[in-house]
Amino acid sequence: MARSPLVDRLRASAPQISVGVLTADWLTLGSQLEILESAGVELLHFDVMDGMFCPMLTMGAPVVAGLKTRLLKDVHLMIEDPLSKLDAFVAAGADIITVHAESTRHIHRVLQALGKMTNANDSNRGIVRGIALNPGTPLEVLEPLAGEFELVLMLAVNPGWGGQKFIASTCDRVKRLREIVRDTALICVDGGVTRDNIGSIARLGADIIVTGSAVFDGKAPLENARVMTGALR
Ligand code: DX5
Ligand code: ZN
Repeated sequence: MARSPLVDRLRASAPQISVGVLTADWLTLGSQLEILESAGVELLHFDVMDGMFCPMLTMGAPVVAGLKTRLLKDVHLMIEDPLSKLDAFVAAGADIITVHAESTRHIHRVLQALGKMTNANDSNRGIVRGIALNPGTPLEVLEPLAGEFELVLMLAVNPGWGGQKFIASTCDRVKRLREIVRDTALICVDGGVTRDNIGSIARLGADIIVTGSAVFDGKAPLENARVMTGALR
């Protein structure tokens, strides 16, 4: 694994949650983020969807940039032509940038370009390069990319919406993924995570577990974040 301080930090905190901001109460976002910090959350997950790679249209780099927070920005790009937008997300303060293998003909080039970029928050921190796989994408796509990523995001739903049901076959995929990458990459599982399944997902070997609607359910984000975090201890 690359000796980026950020990779080491994430590894030391594993397993941990990364909270999807999409379903937060945006009118009171500042206090919502303070709530997350008080629950010990370190990572904020941005689901960037362009209405082309996946059906929904959500946010772009200006929103990621405008959201000022001490939390690390974990940016999941579900967009076409990611190469042309990397600069903007780096400038927006992304700490982790995850690109879909299916979103470009030239995923190797995208990861290499990302590897040359500097974290806008702190030039010594490094940017974690992530590669995301849809539920229908074979794990074999990772093999020629070895050394060009520090994180693999295993999507447990088809991209497009929060609140979908966890696809059961993801469990086997995560187990196989851990055998493939061993300790050369962090594993992130995203989609359909609930209070009931988060513990078993961590036991499969996930380092980072994304949770959107299970934390920001419109009711009790602090309690939800504490329960989700507690399930990993
Ligand atoms: C799916 C997104 C996920 C999802 C998470 O396209 O990448 O991050 O919104 O939301 P929940 O936790 O509600 O499934
Ligand atoms: Zn995501």
